[in-house]
Amino acid sequence: MPLARSLSVTSLSGLEEWDEEFDLEDAVLFEIAWEVANKVGGIYTVIQTKARLTSEEWGENYFLVGPYVESNVRTQVELIEPTNPVLKRTIDKMNASGCKVYFGRWLIEGSPYVILIDVAFTAWSLDTWKSELWDLCDIGVPWFDREANDAVLFGFLTVWLLGEYAAQCDEPPHIVAHFHEWLAGLGLVLCRQRQLPVATVFTTHATLLGRYLCAGNVDFYNKLADIYHRYCLERAAAHCAHVFTTVSQITAIEAEHLLKRKPDIVTPNGLNVKKFSAVHEFQNLHAQSKNRIQEFVRGHFYGHMDFNLDKCLFLFIAGRYEFSNKGADIFLEALARLNYLLRVNHSDVTVIAFFIMPARTNNFNVETLKGFFLCSTEDTAQTVKERFGKKLYESLLVGQLPDVSKMLDKEDFTIMKRAIFATQRQCQPPVCTHNMLEDSSDPILNCVRRIGLFNSSSDRVKIIFHPEFLSSTSPLLPMDYEEFVRGCHLGVFPSYYEPWGYTPAECTVMGIPSISTNLSGFGCFMEEHIADPSAYGIYILDRRFRGVDESCNQLTSFLFQFCKQSRRQRIIQRNRTERLSDLLDWRYLGRYYISARHMALAKAFPDTFMYELQEPTSASGFRYPRPASVPPSPALSRHSSPHHSEAEDNDDERYDEDLEAEKDRVNIRQPYTLPFKNKSSAV
Ligand code: UDP
Ligand code: G6P
Ligand code: GLC
Repeated sequence: MPLARSLSVTSLSGLEEWDEEFDLEDAVLFEIAWEVANKVGGIYTVIQTKARLTSEEWGENYFLVGPYVESNVRTQVELIEPTNPVLKRTIDKMNASGCKVYFGRWLIEGSPYVILIDVAFTAWSLDTWKSELWDLCDIGVPWFDREANDAVLFGFLTVWLLGEYAAQCDEPPHIVAHFHEWLAGLGLVLCRQRQLPVATVFTTHATLLGRYLCAGNVDFYNKLADIYHRYCLERAAAHCAHVFTTVSQITAIEAEHLLKRKPDIVTPNGLNVKKFSAVHEFQNLHAQSKNRIQEFVRGHFYGHMDFNLDKCLFLFIAGRYEFSNKGADIFLEALARLNYLLRVNHSDVTVIAFFIMPARTNNFNVETLKGFFLCSTEDTAQTVKERFGKKLYESLLVGQLPDVSKMLDKEDFTIMKRAIFATQRQCQPPVCTHNMLEDSSDPILNCVRRIGLFNSSSDRVKIIFHPEFLSSTSPLLPMDYEEFVRGCHLGVFPSYYEPWGYTPAECTVMGIPSISTNLSGFGCFMEEHIADPSAYGIYILDRRFRGVDESCNQLTSFLFQFCKQSRRQRIIQRNRTERLSDLLDWRYLGRYYISARHMALAKAFPDTFMYELQEPTSASGFRYPRPASVPPSPALSRHSSPHHSEAEDNDDERYDEDLEAEKDRVNIRQPYTLPFKNKSSAV
């Protein structure tokens, strides 16, 4: 039997030390989620961005397990033969018994192995497995709940995979299986019930009840039949896990009350932070992407370009379309108030607020497409210029000075007139870029109708609702999401229900300021780790201790202050925002996942692994100081944007404050006590 190995979390300063202390050579890690190579929301981002770090740690012994979806596999996965002989035997055996299991490499950073299970192929087992589930734990899954049926199939198939793998090993294996979210949770419950030699971790990224209860005007009574059995699956997974984790402290509190288990560890979400060789490259990227957004805006507002694009600020909200959970409701209300403030203050700033939230549509609408095709006054000027040049050249070729009055002919005038007519339109630029299937009941459109922000020329705030995720292959706005974010000025995510919230985190690592809330995991995390978040362009809205109207006023004031900044102030603020990237890097945050797995191994295999969790010392961990250049309080009591001359400054000489303030960039790898709040709880 191998010697017991121990780990003391408080002694850690960097990732390197983990490997020395905890030998994982003979252990295997399976990470199981419905969003493996299958994009739905933020869980995909967790798995996809963390893969590189986890692959570095576990190498050939790391396998992600997800559903087989043909369209995803075609674009993201290279199917190969399993390299590990035990796994090959496992998959072959399952496939010989009526399953369809695929193996491949997911073509993302870290190129992790993926095992993809075609759940529909085994749908013939659904009834048997459902009655087994009922006999085991009295959880009845109704026939009409397709998602829960998939969860049952996926659960039984993953436990089959893990059980078969364990059976195929010559030596008793040390398997860690990390399950994400209720959709994958049943596999964990069955692992424990079948007493497989597997150390289990369950991470919940939200609680089902929390999400439903917070959504407000959901049709609660008619949804009850959908909720209860899902809740049972979630709660069973949380209770059966050796180690239970949530993505934030706020969701930990929720889990303690709604799932009745206090998480053992909080595992915050990280990102893969790109480091550019030129420190300010992200500023150049902002300028490039902004140009492309401006191009789109020119088309969208053709015939109504009565505002100065150079004084235009691009704000956006993006994510799954949960109108009030994601705070789109108070964002719209605050935009209406901002419109009023900008008008009465005769501001020369125009705000364009983008709503990127997928809804059911029938493709782009005609008005938007017209803008896209007709806006090309620039192309017309170019064509006429070329024709002019040709005539000039022909005249010079025959040795004559051109007759200037004949340089533009009838056709040139026709082309130019057509371009001018094309750019004149009677109706306002549309709010929505697509034909909505549920136009009359759509919450964003209804709210826009109520507040009357219809993109009229007197409005200082314009709205563009793009009810589809962005893609570089779109004919209208051909940008991927990352490029789009870089080109904007401010991300606005005033969520009410947001266990973590990747969107503001992604803004931060790209050096784009954002607004989040003290009810979002991200907002709370930043509040805990930064002395003066707003000075860094991290505005945290209070939605916990204020009423909706008050929060809305606070949001309006954030937006108005932001609009008052000069270009120079925005540049300085972006520099500060970007300096926070290290805090959100998996290289730093990955340690919580590592710790969760080690804790699970020690619980499942106490003779082999040992884990000492020590109480945190007085300081609860790392904290970014206020930027050196921000004056001390009382400025703190108001929104603290960079304090500089109000004058708009167009030159690029911008790094003076920030070169000096580079000392604010604190080394995050310095000795650090992990802020564990919970002692491990026995299962
Ligand atoms: N996202 C995207 N394309 C878009 C808008 C959003 O890929 O056009 C991604 C975004 O990058 C983020 C995820 O969707 O990683 C949303 O995750 P978040 O945690 O903010 O919310 P969730 O949807 O999980 O509640
Ligand atoms: C970046 C670019 C500058 C540009 C600025 C625009 O910093 O490097 O050249 O002037 O962005 O900033 P703004 O906030 O006005 O988009
Ligand atoms: C969930 C939450 C979101 C979180 C994501 C990843 O979908 O809604 O707030 O960022 O999971 O943990």
